[in-house]
Amino acid sequence: MYSPVATRYDSPDFYRRCGRSGVKLPLISLGLWHNFGAKDSSENARAIACRAFDLGITHFDLANNYGPPDGSAEETFGKILREDLGRWRDEMIVTTKAGYYMWPGPYGEWGSRKNLLASLDQSLKRMGLPYVDIFYHHRPDPDTPLEETMGALAHAVCVGKALYVGLSNYQPAETARAAKILRELGTPCLIHQPRYSMMDRWVEPQLLATLESEGIGCIVFSPLAKGVLTDRYFKGIPADSRAGHDPRFLRPSDITDAVLTKTKKLNDLAQSRGQTLAQMSLAWVLRHKAVTSALIGASRVSQVDDCVGATRNLNFAGEELARIEKILAD
Ligand SMILES: NC(=O)c1ccc[n+]([C@@H]2O[C@H](COP(=O)([O-])OP(=O)(O)OC[C@H]3O[C@@H](n4cnc5c(N)ncnc54)[C@H](OP(=O)(O)O)[C@@H]3O)[C@@H](O)[C@H]2O)c1
Repeated sequence: MYSPVATRYDSPDFYRRCGRSGVKLPLISLGLWHNFGAKDSSENARAIACRAFDLGITHFDLANNYGPPDGSAEETFGKILREDLGRWRDEMIVTTKAGYYMWPGPYGEWGSRKNLLASLDQSLKRMGLPYVDIFYHHRPDPDTPLEETMGALAHAVCVGKALYVGLSNYQPAETARAAKILRELGTPCLIHQPRYSMMDRWVEPQLLATLESEGIGCIVFSPLAKGVLTDRYFKGIPADSRAGHDPRFLRPSDITDAVLTKTKKLNDLAQSRGQTLAQMSLAWVLRHKAVTSALIGASRVSQVDDCVGATRNLNFAGEELARIEKILAD
């Protein structure tokens, strides 16, 4: 039977306050988008989640549609909670999201109150939980009034099915509008979840500034660009890699020579810092004080170990940052 290691909270600097809230999140959080579906090894999934918890990763990020099939990552995580981690539920931040396609008909996606609250009930059932810590709207809905969507998030908190609410993939102006509505409803927005990595910097000009001024935390997803910002593809496309076996969101054709030229140069720089490329990529997103946590995925336990090792060196010399800029611009 699993029993967590006693040293898991020995590094207080591993936690950052989430915006202007009372909650701290680990610098590295674990997402269950990939490798926790019905066809993945449940023993590997369990090992990854337990190792993460042993390393002080208190935050596990899910969504209704993670799998495949949709919902199966929540089922896998529910099993891990039942059999292993559930006894430490109060030490964990568990999240889920609604907004992407989940079931047929007009209520199975986007941002209606009907979709969000039905989806949350389904997620809780799959995980066997009475509440999640954070319930997110997964993507903005251009057709539903923001007041309705935010009202549904706030309602989930009022009825005790979520402790906090979050937004994902919202642009800066709609984030500020949503935050205002949520404040007026008495349920401040805890956190925003955007994509951010050296390969995708859309948050930099405005979103991070908006989040800081609104007092909203920020957890960035795909900080390793789905594995591209690691040494995973340096010797071709391994059959067990994401691009090699699940090309839904990362195709072999995305791993171009131009991409590899950049990532190999970045790897040289990482090595000169005593880090792996994955570690330097995580340190790079965490250099912003507005970024609360880097939300990684992992296909094996050793990747979680490697990623957490990033926190041993989060500092960059100005010259190193300039070299990164040059490599990315070339
Ligand atoms: N809100 C949203 O719309 C949204 C969208 C996407 C994701 N997310 C969240 O963000 C989480 C992370 O997304 P992601 O999986 O794309 O993140 P990522 O960390 O950029 O990529 C994870 C992949 O990188 C590889 N990897 C990880 N650590 C490594 C290491 N140390 N060395 C070598 N390779 C390593 C593994 O690839 P291999 O599998 O090839 O080994 C792993 O599956 C998701 O699980 C989900 O919770 C949210």
